[in-house]
Amino acid sequence: KSSEFCDAGTGFGDSGCVVSSKSASKLLIKGGTVVNAHHQEIADVYVEDGIIVAVKPNIKVGDDVTVLDATGKFVMPGGIDPHTHLAMEFMGTETIDDFFSGQAAALAGGTTMHIDFVIPVKGSLSKGLEAYKDKAKKSCMDYGFHMAITKWDENVSREMEIMVKEKGINSFKFFLAYKGALMINDELLLEGLKKCKSLGALAMVHAENGDAVFEGQKRMIELGITGPEGHALSRPPVLEGEATARAIRLASFVNTPLYVVHVMSIDAMEEIAKARKSGQRVIGEPVVSGLVLDDSGLWDPDFINAAKYVMSPPIRALGHDKALQAALSTGNLQLVGTDHCAFNSTQKAFGIDDFRKIPNGVNGIEERMHLVWDTMVESGQISVTDYVRITSTECARIFNMYPRKGAILAGSDADIIILNPNSSFQITARSHHSRLDTNVFEGRKGKGKVEVTIAGGKIVWENDELKAVPGSGKYIEMQPFSYLFNGIDKVDAKYLSSLQAPVQRSKAAS
Ligand code: URP
Ligand code: ZN
Ligand code: ZN
Ligand code: ZN
Repeated sequence: KSSEFCDAGTGFGDSGCVVSSKSASKLLIKGGTVVNAHHQEIADVYVEDGIIVAVKPNIKVGDDVTVLDATGKFVMPGGIDPHTHLAMEFMGTETIDDFFSGQAAALAGGTTMHIDFVIPVKGSLSKGLEAYKDKAKKSCMDYGFHMAITKWDENVSREMEIMVKEKGINSFKFFLAYKGALMINDELLLEGLKKCKSLGALAMVHAENGDAVFEGQKRMIELGITGPEGHALSRPPVLEGEATARAIRLASFVNTPLYVVHVMSIDAMEEIAKARKSGQRVIGEPVVSGLVLDDSGLWDPDFINAAKYVMSPPIRALGHDKALQAALSTGNLQLVGTDHCAFNSTQKAFGIDDFRKIPNGVNGIEERMHLVWDTMVESGQISVTDYVRITSTECARIFNMYPRKGAILAGSDADIIILNPNSSFQITARSHHSRLDTNVFEGRKGKGKVEVTIAGGKIVWENDELKAVPGSGKYIEMQPFSYLFNGIDKVDAKYLSSLQAPVQRSKAAS
């Protein structure tokens, strides 16, 4: 590893760490181009006690303040990853990045907050939340939670209310895949959508038809295809398109906003684009693996090399990646996640004889900011302000944390990155900060490097060195009724009044 971590409590001072006589709580970032989602300007940023105090040119400070020169560089809100799985028990094992190692990796890559998915314990949401709060005690950056809904009864319904009203959770994920495990049926999805709507919580879907995937897997096994390529062949884009369309239509029927996680295919993306064009509130989240990779890796004759690409929905054939990039740049897709769900070679080897047993998931929490910059900004597909929007601001808005998060504004949390567009990055498992022994982006190089990460007002990444402090991350409570719910009631009222005439006619006829 290229760097090591400071001890909790002492924080600074072990070998390789910088000991500073300056105040750790006062920072001035001088002369950079400060970028927000709607504006950029050359300005200084002054930070005190974890909060941005001022953003303007030529701020003068005393010599007790740590000064960072950002001339010629971009000063932007820290990345917010809307989709991660740290310390998740899944497919008979547990992801090897926990809330410390995964977050430390994130900080090294310019991400300063993530939203992870709580998995209920035996159907209990509160037990699930307790378990995740425990896992998250070692956090070194801010985090929030979505909650998965894996069954339905009165208790789950009641607990959803408690999660939203008392626990700071404002989104619930429904899995339309993973038959026999996390998958739910349409009846449950409908109940969930109705409940989400009444609570002002955002419904999220993993959109693949799980019954058809099961059928597709049988087909592959019958054909004698047992390797990692069978994973992609068994769950083609049409099954993602079907489930995406179904979820979108059911959300329309209920009239509630919908968030489609890990959009991997043109098929799914086009359903989202069509719905948005008709005025429906649908958010599409591509993930960095889907944006920059294609399925060729799944055909690597070396099992471990191939198995590291196994995730669901699968990484698609060449062409889907470019189409997803284009959809991001035109606004048909709104923000980028990672679905960071790290399983090492030993864990991936569970499926050496049968692709159905390969734990599903790839890395990305450390690589997202760099790869999105290189792929989208450096290539000229989007502006720097758009970059801030799709990596940070839009996530903060959707999950109702803006402008505390997702902005460089006076009063916002001091989660800040300094990116040097003239510097370059290189990705390899030999130097990344995740506990993974592989990297799905192995060997990638590009332009634009996050040189400094500031989380909660503290410099945690500088000169390729991490100063992540376990326990320093805060749980961010998210309130319901984000902007996506504005006007939902008016559409409901219109629908009800449109039913007046049919009701009259129906009564008259009977
Ligand atoms: O393969 C994946 N995506 N693993 C994580 C679980 C999920 O479906 O998000
Ligand atoms: Zn150290
Ligand atoms: Zn999923
Ligand atoms: Zn996921």
